[in-house]
Amino acid sequence: MATAAQNDVPAGTRGSYHFPPGFERNLLWMALRRLRPANPIVLFQQLARDYGEIAHYKLAWNHIIFLNHPDYIREVLVVQNDNFTKERTVQRTKMLLGEGMITSEGAQHRQQRQVAQPAFHRQRIPEYASAMVDEAVRMRESWRDGEERDIAIDMMHLTLNVVARTLLATDLREEARELADAINRIMGLYNFLVMLPAAEWLVHARPPGLAAFVRARKRIDAVVYRMIEAHRRERSDSGSLLDLMLAAAPEHTPASEQSLRDQVITIFLAGYETVANALSWTWYLLSQNPACERHFHAEIDRELQGKHPSFEDVPRLRYVEMVLAESMRLYPPAWAMGRRARHDFQLGDFFLPAKTTVLISQFVTHRDPRYFPDPLRFDPERFTPEAKARRAKFTYFPFGAGFRQCIGESFAWMEGVLLLATLGQKWKLALVPGHQVEPEPLITLRPKYGMHMRIEARQSAINEPPGTIRPHVA
Ligand code: HEM
Repeated sequence: MATAAQNDVPAGTRGSYHFPPGFERNLLWMALRRLRPANPIVLFQQLARDYGEIAHYKLAWNHIIFLNHPDYIREVLVVQNDNFTKERTVQRTKMLLGEGMITSEGAQHRQQRQVAQPAFHRQRIPEYASAMVDEAVRMRESWRDGEERDIAIDMMHLTLNVVARTLLATDLREEARELADAINRIMGLYNFLVMLPAAEWLVHARPPGLAAFVRARKRIDAVVYRMIEAHRRERSDSGSLLDLMLAAAPEHTPASEQSLRDQVITIFLAGYETVANALSWTWYLLSQNPACERHFHAEIDRELQGKHPSFEDVPRLRYVEMVLAESMRLYPPAWAMGRRARHDFQLGDFFLPAKTTVLISQFVTHRDPRYFPDPLRFDPERFTPEAKARRAKFTYFPFGAGFRQCIGESFAWMEGVLLLATLGQKWKLALVPGHQVEPEPLITLRPKYGMHMRIEARQSAINEPPGTIRPHVA
C-alpha cells in the first residue's frame, strides 16, 4: 500500500482522524457549480489518476474513500468485513429489491444466504445446463440471417428465462417481456432516484414524476406474486431455489409474503441483468476483434463437433471462458461496490471515522495498466491459467470478494459459456455500422444505446435434430 508520504498532496488530519489526499472541495459544492462529472466512472477515474491508490473526498457531510489497490480492497472486503455494511446507494435499491440477499444485513442476510445455498451447490449446477442450452437454442432458432437486432434486449430476455426456469422453476415466456420492460423503466429512473434526497419517501407519497416507478414496480410485483402463488398451489418440490424459499417461510403473514417477494425479485435482478450485460459486451468485443472471434468460433466447432453443448463440454470450451473473462474485465457488469463503516477504522496509514463510505470500482481497477498492461486492448490470453496465476489477487473481481461475494458465480460462468457457445455455434454477430456504443453505469453496466447487431449465419456444420430449418447461408 502507498503511504501518505508517497503521494503529492499532503494527507489531511482532522481531530484524531487521518485522511488520504483527495479533492479539497466538497463534491456538493462542485455539483452546485455544475462541475459534476457526467458519470461516477469519470469521477473514479479522475481520483485514481490524480491521487493513486486511495483518495478522499466529501459529499455534503459524508466522508468518502475511493480505493484502487488490491491490498486496500482485500482489507475492506475480506479482512475487516465485519466493520462494514452496504452503503447508501445499495440501501436505496431497497425501493425495488426490499430486504433480499443483496440489501439485507446481519442475521437476516445470513439466514437468506443459508436458505439459498443448496440451490447453488456444485452438485446442482449441472442440472441447470440443459435448460440453459435449451433456452439458447430456442433463441438462435428465432433469429434470421441478415436481420438487425438489439442484442442487449435479446440477452435480457434469454437470461431472464434462464433464471426463471432454473432457479425459480417457472416458465415465464411472454411474462419475460413484461418483466424486462418494467425493470427497464425502473433502470431509466434509477440515477434520479439514488441521487434524490428522501427518494424513498417520495416514492411512497407518489408524486406525479415518480408514478412510472410505482407502476413498473407494481407490474413486477404482480408477476412475482403470481409465481409464488402457482408454486404454492402445485406444492412443487423440485428443490428449486423458490421451493427452498417457500419451505423456509411456511407462515403466510403479510410480512413473510413481502419477504418472499423481496427475495425472489433479488434473485431475478441479480441473476439476469448481470449475465445479460456480460453477454452483450462480449458479442460487441468479439465483433471488434476478428482474430479472437475466429479463435472463438473455431474452438466451438472443434469441441462440439456440431452437437448441442452440455455441462460436460464446459471445461473444454476454455477460450470461450477466457473471452467472457476478458469481456468482464473491460466491461464488468457490477462496475462498483460500496461499503459503509460501522466504527472508526485503520486502513494502511490512515485512520478513518465510522460512517465513512468506501467505494471500489471493478471498472477502474480492471483497467489499471499496473495489473493489465495495455489495458484497453481486448486480449483473452490474459486469462490463461498461467497468466491468472501470475497476477496479484484482488486485481480482477467481477463477482466481488469476501463473505458477500456473488452466490451465483459458478452458475454465471457456466451460463455465460453455454449461452455464448450455443449462439456462436450458429451465428456471427456484427455491429451495425454507425451504432453508438457507450457504457452506462446504472445498477449494472449497460450499453446505453442498446447493442444493435446484424445476425450472420455461419457456415459451420450443426447436427440439427430432424425437422430443424437451417437458415439460408449466403
Ligand atoms: C456475470 C454475472 C454476475 C456478476 C458480474 C455478478 C456480480 C456480483 C457482485 C460483484 C456481487 C457482490 C456485491 C457486493 O459485494 O456489494 C454479487 C452478489 C450477488 N449476486 Fe451476483 N453476479 C452475477 C451473476 C449472478 C447470478 C447468476 C446470480 C443468481 C441468482 C447472482 C446472485 C447474487 C446475489 C444473491 C448476491 C448477493 C450475495 C450476498 O450479499 O450474500 N449473481 N454479484
